[in-house]
Amino acid sequence: MTLEYFPLPGTPVEQLDTPALIIDLDVAEGNISKLQTWANRHKVAVRPHAKTHKSPYWARKQLAAGAIGICCAKVSEAEVLANAGVPEIMITNQIIGERKITRLMSLARSARMIVAVDSPENVRDLSEAAQACGAEIGVIIEVDTGMHRCGTAPGAPSVKLAKAIAKAPGLRFDGVMGYEGHLVANRDYEVRKTETLKAVEKLVETADAMRKAGLDVKIVSAAGTGTYNITGTVKGVTELQPGSYIFMDGDYLQVLKDFKPALHVLAQVTSRPAPDRAITDAGLKSISTDRGFPAAAGITGATVKSLSEEHGNITVEGEAAKLRPGDKIRFLPMHGDTTINLHTHYFGIRNGKLEAVIPIEGRGKIR
Ligand SMILES: Cc1ncc(COP(=O)(O)O)c(C=O)c1O
Repeated sequence: MTLEYFPLPGTPVEQLDTPALIIDLDVAEGNISKLQTWANRHKVAVRPHAKTHKSPYWARKQLAAGAIGICCAKVSEAEVLANAGVPEIMITNQIIGERKITRLMSLARSARMIVAVDSPENVRDLSEAAQACGAEIGVIIEVDTGMHRCGTAPGAPSVKLAKAIAKAPGLRFDGVMGYEGHLVANRDYEVRKTETLKAVEKLVETADAMRKAGLDVKIVSAAGTGTYNITGTVKGVTELQPGSYIFMDGDYLQVLKDFKPALHVLAQVTSRPAPDRAITDAGLKSISTDRGFPAAAGITGATVKSLSEEHGNITVEGEAAKLRPGDKIRFLPMHGDTTINLHTHYFGIRNGKLEAVIPIEGRGKIR
């Protein structure tokens, strides 16, 4: 992955060219360590989700801290991770269609692959492909614990599918997952806790029903960043699969403060067309707005009014009214994952200086 702009380590952050996706390395490493330490203390494993960072560099950091493997959403993300030597990869989505299933089987040569299913047809297709390639693939059932996205109904329908997987040649039945995505961002901790416990109970009960039916259920995987410390206390949950905790974003900071914001987009003022307006070079192609406009950080009186493709239109007053063309300003994105996907590299900062330019090899990997 080439980068036409490759500043030297030691470059002060304010001298970086813009827009730049900057990561405070101390903060991101602190977030990884905090989650892993919590999980170790609660005797639950961590399998972080790479859909956030999309980068082997950060996957390696998570593995080095003690993660048992890495999750991702797409075959192409898994290819990036496997290529970088990540030994065990769990795709938390259904992989459908001959083309993608063939790629999944090829991946099994370089990494231990686990994939989520929620239909007998998909089990049949995976089994046929595994046999044709002489591969073995781990399979987990995605159980719908209330998000109503994918997943089989808890209880008997999931047990029935588990039996089919256990009998399918080429497939290894590994267990269940249930992402409580409808609860992870609930702002009210008490509601989040009560509802998450109910949701996760469905997953654990389903796993127990499978065991009663004679199946070996090794994996019971759940949780996002907003529920890690709720789901992680439920007996029977074996591992957590959070993603956003590594960098946090403006939206998630309104849910919990356990992890600190590590990710900003550094922009530059390019024009001061009016006393109360500054224009920056970071628009929609640099910062996503699906969860709201980014927040200016480290300066008071700057509010994002609108973003167009390559411009940020900022209302300025007080301290921010002094901004001149060429001045740098940091923005906290409200949604990290969709912002990261717009960039090719992170600029890793420590003590105010560039330490590493980190490729985002999984950026744009949507197939
Ligand atoms: C299946 C699955 N697991 C885990 C996560 C991680 O969640 P979070 O970003 O809340 O940490 C996601 C997020 O979309 C997900 O879709």
